[in-house]
Amino acid sequence: MSGLDDFIAAETSLSEVDGARGRLVIRGHTLDDLAGRTSFEALLSLLLADLAPLPAGELKSRLGLARSRAFAEIAHLDPDLLRLSITEALRALMARLPDGEEVDIAILLAAAPAVFVPAIIRRQAGREAIAPDPAKGHAEDMLFMLSGETPSPAQIAALDTYLVTVSDHGLNASTFAARVVASTRAGYTSAVLAALGALKGPLHGGAPGPVLDMLDAIGSPDHAEAWLSAALARGERLMGFGHRIYRVRDPRADALKSALARLGAAGGMNAARLALAETVERDALALLRLAKPDRPLETNVEFFTALLLEALGFPRDAFTGVFATGRVAGWLAHSHEQITNGRLIRPQSLYVGPKAA
Ligand code: ACO
Repeated sequence: MSGLDDFIAAETSLSEVDGARGRLVIRGHTLDDLAGRTSFEALLSLLLADLAPLPAGELKSRLGLARSRAFAEIAHLDPDLLRLSITEALRALMARLPDGEEVDIAILLAAAPAVFVPAIIRRQAGREAIAPDPAKGHAEDMLFMLSGETPSPAQIAALDTYLVTVSDHGLNASTFAARVVASTRAGYTSAVLAALGALKGPLHGGAPGPVLDMLDAIGSPDHAEAWLSAALARGERLMGFGHRIYRVRDPRADALKSALARLGAAGGMNAARLALAETVERDALALLRLAKPDRPLETNVEFFTALLLEALGFPRDAFTGVFATGRVAGWLAHSHEQITNGRLIRPQSLYVGPKAA
């Protein structure tokens, strides 16, 4: 009852999380077919086919123009906002955007996190924000706004793969929050802000940072087995392993592992970091099999997210914001679906307090 486990709260034609088979299906396509082959823009066009039924090329150019429009908001990134965490500063900038159910507002919301996250990172480090280039692809432009350097095709492909991989995932906590707010007809911006609030919590969007903390604490491959055994003996959970729904494999972990392999050393993947991660993964899976023989515990999406975003130059406290850059596609598509097909979400509660006299 308390977590609504197994409770069906919406019908959706957007994505299916099939935990028993280890499959994620987005609008009839498996993630295995989409990741690494589809740009973020193409995925957005798939997810927003009902909300913004535009040819993929037109959606791409409108997304580029919307990045430029979002950049005007960077003027409001004052010292008070810069003292906030990256996720909170992102939420504050998103809250300044106009609200409503118009297509232009949805496209602006889809574009904005890719602009705001690099700008916040740079301004917090005392550097100037870099303006977007509407002619570039979304992933390419985000990487350029982060570093000021032209990213390689492998780096662009890696970020595209990441954004596609996290774009939608059934009725997770942030998507449910978006649907609840959208059902009140408050507007897409309000729905996305509710989703961002849910994503900020460490139980939802916050695991990849701790994966890097774990790798830093282990330090080198020859310490991995002893460190992991000691952590399990203390009753701790190994970050980046296990999942509530996936029981065989997390297909998103596979997609990101392949993206990392393609990125390689030339794309910024540090060979020593990768060797450490491979040993940690192998030893952790072996130890978890021994510790929990009845419970399949596999590598989850967060393990490879951490390595991929680190290799692309994002600081670990920006990982939740980069996640939002991809997941905003799902939040918008679900909000539209809720507005179109659903009703006001208003469940009942069971009163268990004291009886009135
Ligand atoms: N390390 C060690 N033991 C684990 C792990 C882990 N990563 N995951 C589960 N277990 C153990 C639990 O301690 C529990 O043991 P017990 O029955 O003796 O108490 C058993 O396996 C079952 O665990 P549950 O709590 O039922 O697993 P649940 O499905 O609720 O939790 C979760 C899933 C939260 C992801 C869990 O596996 C975990 O804490 N993993 C580490 C944190 C992490 O990687 N989070 C990101 C997940 S991906 C995502 O949310 C997008």
